Parts: sequence; C-alpha cells; structure tokens
Amino acid sequence: MRGGQFPETKAEMIIAADTDGIARAARYLAQGGLVAFPTETVYGLGADATNGFAVAGIFAAKGRPAFNPLIIHVPEAAAVRHLAEVTPLAQKLAAAFWPGPMTLVLKALPNGPVEPLALAGLDTIALRVPSHPVALAMLRAARVPVAAPSANRSGHVSPTSAQHVADDLGERVPMVLDGGASDVGLESTIVDATGDVPVLLRPGAITREDIARVTGGAVLTVEDLKRGGAGQDAPTAPGQLESHYAPRARVRLNARDVMPGEALLAFGADVPKHTGPMLNLSHSGDAVEAAANLFGHLRALDRADVMVIAVMPVPYEGLGEAINDRLGRAAAAR
Ligand code: TXA
Ligand code: MG
Repeated sequence: MRGGQFPETKAEMIIAADTDGIARAARYLAQGGLVAFPTETVYGLGADATNGFAVAGIFAAKGRPAFNPLIIHVPEAAAVRHLAEVTPLAQKLAAAFWPGPMTLVLKALPNGPVEPLALAGLDTIALRVPSHPVALAMLRAARVPVAAPSANRSGHVSPTSAQHVADDLGERVPMVLDGGASDVGLESTIVDATGDVPVLLRPGAITREDIARVTGGAVLTVEDLKRGGAGQDAPTAPGQLESHYAPRARVRLNARDVMPGEALLAFGADVPKHTGPMLNLSHSGDAVEAAANLFGHLRALDRADVMVIAVMPVPYEGLGEAINDRLGRAAAAR
C-alpha cells in the first residue's frame, strides 16, 4: 500500500474545471486525495484505486456502513487490459458504448494494481470509461485508475451538480471539480461481461434493447440466471454483494488472546504475544488505515494455511462499523 496520510491541502472546495483546475484535481488525486468530479451520469467521489488509504477515505466520507465494490474509471478502453481479463463480449460492448454510461464487470487480473478494498475483496472488477470531457481529461492527467461511487452520503440521492456535492458532503470532500450539470442524471448501466452472454446487473441510461442491438442476442438479468438454464453461474448483483470474500480459514472474532496454530489479525498497539502468522490492521488504531488493509491482510493470513484467523476487536467508530460488518460476514460464512 502506498501513502499513509491524506495530503495536507485545505482546498476551497469547488474549483472550476478549466485547464488549471483539472490539472490540480489530477495532482491531488495522484497524491491520495479525494476529488469529486463530473461524469455524464452523476458526480463521482474519486480516489486513486491503487492507494488503499485513499480508497478507505471514500468509504469514510460517504459514511458507508459496509464496503461495497466501487466502479473503477479509466480514460480509455485500452487501459482495461492492465486491470482485467477482456472477453470478446466486453470488446464488443466497449467498442459500442465507451466512452459512455456503461460499466462492464470483468474478471480482475489476479495481481492487478487495484487495491482489494476498492473491489471489496471480489475477484471481479467493474470498469467504466465516462464520456464527460472533464472526467476524461482528469483521468488522463491523473495516470491512475480512479475508484468512484456517486458523490453523496450513503443513503442520500446521487448528485448531478457540484453544488449538490458540496451541500451533501460538505467538508468531507476537500475538492469538487465543477463541470456543470450531469446530463444523464442516472447512474451507468452495469453489465456482467465475463461470459458469452451479457447479464444486466443494473439498468441505466443504456437500455437492454441498446445492448441487444450490439450483441445481436439475448441479454439476461440476474433473475433469469436464478431461474436457471443459462449455463452459467449466477453472478453477484449490485446490492446482493454482501456474502463475498469468505476466507478459507475459520474467523474467530473479538479475540483477546491467540492460540497456537492460529493466525492473528491484530488491531492497535496492545497486541497479545504470538509467534505464528500475524498482521496488524493498524498499529496506531486508525480505522481508515485498518479499512485499507482489511481485505489484503485477510487474504495474506489465509494463505498462511492456518485453520483459524483470530481477529482482535475493532471499535465501531467511523469506518469501524463497516470493518465490523465485513468481519462479521467473514466469520459467518459457509
Ligand atoms: O454512473 C455511475 O456508474 C456512477 C459514476 C460516478 O460513474 N457511479 C456509481 O457508483 O454509480 P456506485 O458506487 O454508486 O455504484 C456502483 C455499483 C454498485 O451497485 C456495486 O455493487 C456495483 O457497482 N459493482 C461494483 N463492482 C462490482 C462487481 N465486481 N460486480 C458486480 N457489481 C459491482
Ligand atoms: Mg450510489
């Protein structure tokens, strides 16, 4: 993981999306800062997807009680091959709809640069090339893939202007790039393109008919797949992604001690003595750092080939709620 702190910029919030403003926003992003930026659908709250600290900052700013996987924004379709396995179906859809309000879910490259927290521990990745010229210019200048959910507090409506973002997120977002009103006003269409047949995961500006016209065949929904007969596994749909990353090892929560043969996922400075595999979510007890490390550390300890991962208690304040949500699911799995 890169970086450790947010850059010390007290920005004056809304900045005009002229050449200078775009360059500043791109620089701030690349340093690990959060930038709200316009897309043709809604305003996004962006962070460098390769920087776990920055990605954790998104969840902290939105006040999300759980970590949902984020859409990763890139300036051109060619950038996707460094991040995902590109299928022929994805190539077809990208050629037809990118740049534009279409998000493609693909298999993530196993050792890709995007932080596991941005993918919420999934082995798939949602990718989008937006068409808004300000978004494209910023993404090109930032030179990093940008994770961005809609720039609103969790549970609030998606913002379609810089002012909406500032009103809703206030000081939680240090910089808002003002590129005028978003014209679509509705989030992107999400399509699972991991297989041969497109699966519509979230309806949006690009319709099922639009997609069918390009692929010349069926467009399935998650419900279709659940009814069976499609010859492929039902994919995880947005909003139904609660049960992902379950480690192979059993997870023991609220551990205040650790048994021989266990791995320890520690939190804070006051760690019980342990000679086996151990990683610390945050020595200083910082929830943002802990969130950034969560999925990566769980995965690493799982690779240590232990039966049990003992996890020290993590307080519920701030991102602690989301961390505990995920830990609870990891412990409850199977
Ligand atoms: O128009 C949009 O897509 C906007 C702009 C900012 O680009 N972004 C947006 O992000 O709507 P958000 O976080 O509000 O919604 C992301 C959706 C969630 O429903 C999430 O579950 C889904 O994308 N998603 C992300 N990664 C996924 C994956 N690997 N598989 C399935 N769904 C995924
Ligand atoms: Mg949203």
